[in-house]
Amino acid sequence: MNKRWYVTTAIDYVNGQPHLGHAYEKILADVIARARRSLGQEVFFLTGLDEHGQKVEQTAASQQKDTQAYCDELAENWKAFVRKLNLTNDDFVRTTEARHKACVQACLAHVNAHGHVYRKTYRGFYSTKEETFLTEKDRRPDGTFDPAYGEVIELEEENYFFRLQDQQQWLIDYIEANPSFVQPDYRRNEVLGFLRNNTLEDLCISRPRERLSWGIPLPFDDQYVTYVWFDALVNYISIPAAHGDPALRALRGFEGAANDGPALWPADVHIIGKDILKFHAVYWPIMLKALGLPLPRQLLVHGWWQKDGQKMSKTTGNVVDPVAVIDEWGVDAFRFYVLRELDIGPDGNWTDASFRDRYTSALANGLGNLLNRSLSMLRAYRQSIVPEPSGELSAEAQQVATETRALLEENRLQAALQKIWTLVDRGNVYVEQTKPFKLAKDPAQAKQLDAVLYNLAETCRVLAVLLWPFLPETSAKIYAQLNLPGVPDRFEAAAWGGLPKGHNVAQPVPLFPRKDT
Ligand code: ME8
Ligand code: MG
Repeated sequence: MNKRWYVTTAIDYVNGQPHLGHAYEKILADVIARARRSLGQEVFFLTGLDEHGQKVEQTAASQQKDTQAYCDELAENWKAFVRKLNLTNDDFVRTTEARHKACVQACLAHVNAHGHVYRKTYRGFYSTKEETFLTEKDRRPDGTFDPAYGEVIELEEENYFFRLQDQQQWLIDYIEANPSFVQPDYRRNEVLGFLRNNTLEDLCISRPRERLSWGIPLPFDDQYVTYVWFDALVNYISIPAAHGDPALRALRGFEGAANDGPALWPADVHIIGKDILKFHAVYWPIMLKALGLPLPRQLLVHGWWQKDGQKMSKTTGNVVDPVAVIDEWGVDAFRFYVLRELDIGPDGNWTDASFRDRYTSALANGLGNLLNRSLSMLRAYRQSIVPEPSGELSAEAQQVATETRALLEENRLQAALQKIWTLVDRGNVYVEQTKPFKLAKDPAQAKQLDAVLYNLAETCRVLAVLLWPFLPETSAKIYAQLNLPGVPDRFEAAAWGGLPKGHNVAQPVPLFPRKDT
């Protein structure tokens, strides 16, 4: 069986409301998944939740709730959020599920049996907020720890450690030899800089049960649970294993679930934010090597959103609520803004003013206007019947399609949208140049008017195909207004000439109503 194209997001901490950053990452993954399917690949798209750890346990306790019941409640909100964003994920992982826990335990048993794990006493500092041990090196010049770590406690305890020492050189060599493994390049350089200038300390992978019970027990010592990151990262293979990935047979965990399913691992791309790069570019490859598994093909690292130039924070109220924006403006307006505003890599800044500007100029006055005027004129001058095919805009449309395909294959989503908008703009300029409203007054120009009307309607159809990964609801609406069956989810349909002569299109309906502000 052919390997499916496998794309993942980070799994979000369950105890918090979904915010702009989470929405952005999921939309990136969805566009990539839809684009690959449109280009003919079989895809598997995974997103989900990270549910273990002290924070979850403490919050549930403070609300007098059973921890699992608390997670179940929150997970429903997150699943609703995924639907709200119109994601096409093939599965949704929760780390408290049996299928995930079984695989984590199988992984731990494997690395333990192969000598990668040992036990020792640890003295040091711990941040509960980030669920991580800190060292003297993490102190700031004034001796304190970054407030981002929350309360930092000093503790001494016996724990299990995963060997990272001696793993540094092969990883450096690998990242040097595989420039596309970490993208963009400045993130790759960051990882290389870290690896060249630091000596890796072995990773503590356990927490004593008496301090933290909300975790997956170690298969070789049930007085301990698994460190959240060793648990969370494994989601990328636990779900393929649960689906029967033949490459992960040994880790399947479930007795009886022996049937092979689709080949998924290695992932083609893990989409993550810049703050969790070290876990994915250093710990995860070393874990995979210890498990005898190939590395993911790429880590695609996006930047962080701010609002109005400030860090988003619930306490100051400086947040963007994606659900509120979608309820007011529609899911595609939200998807469009985040994808068009921010390239994958740098940090971004949300302002309500720029959101409105992009809505009005690109969506309402650009794409929406093009479809509306094209269909209105076809109705007014030709009773909504598509005239004889004509190819005046064919070469330009095909050029845009070819370049868009190349950009999609490189996951350059912002550049692809910019490219597609050159065709939107071309269509609107074409109306100004050809002046169909004038042609309509002169019966001798009937053939020329036919040609203009065909080119406009067909350009709208091609745009629907190109936009499918980005704005699926809008694409489907354009197809519906063109009275074409199904949704434009196959890229090959972008070939010029799809609208047949004599086809009856439907009534124009505004795609993006203008808003009074
Ligand atoms: O880190 N802008 O979960 P998380 C853009 N459970 N992206 C942002 C963002 C912002 N303002 N804030 C957060 C975790 N993100 C772990 C991951 S993966 C095996 C385990 C991104 O809920 C962040 O960079 O804190 C990360 O990729 C994702 O949201 C989840 O963050
Ligand atoms: Mg975080």
